[in-house]
Amino acid sequence: MKTLQRTFTIIKPDAVRKNAIGDIIEQFEKNGFHILCLKMLEISKHQAEQFYAVHAGKSFFDSLTGFMSSGPIVVLALEKENAIADLRKLMGATNPAQAEEGTIRKKWATNIEHNAIHGSDGDDTARFELSYFFAGYELAQ
Ligand code: CMP
Repeated sequence: MKTLQRTFTIIKPDAVRKNAIGDIIEQFEKNGFHILCLKMLEISKHQAEQFYAVHAGKSFFDSLTGFMSSGPIVVLALEKENAIADLRKLMGATNPAQAEEGTIRKKWATNIEHNAIHGSDGDDTARFELSYFFAGYELAQ
């Protein structure tokens, strides 16, 4: 029996500025992800700090949260078997210099901070991140 899993992703401001939204969403669908919900929005620096709280205190925290609040982003709830690991594979390494050919970051990321896309790195993170951006009724299906 198939066990569907949910994950959360953000198309970051750099990718939105490059007009990469359509290409990235096409990659999700071509790779078997079902889009449960999506929205385009802007977040404040404070909201970015809450979202990335696990990185508070790191050298790149201020710059990362400034960047994530610098323009529109697209947030999506995705579903498929093995969604969390499969999305991370499709995204490629955090640092695009190490990203494999055919990954989203290889194609669209500029550097380790402006790296086009975020994806949840585990079950607990996915739960937190989905609930940070989506209300229960938006994911009820
Ligand atoms: P993301 O998957 O959104 O999760 C945390 C983000 O922090 C990561 O992608 C990178 O954009 C950023 N990040 C991680 N390490 C560094 C670093 N050494 N310098 C700058 N940004 C980083």
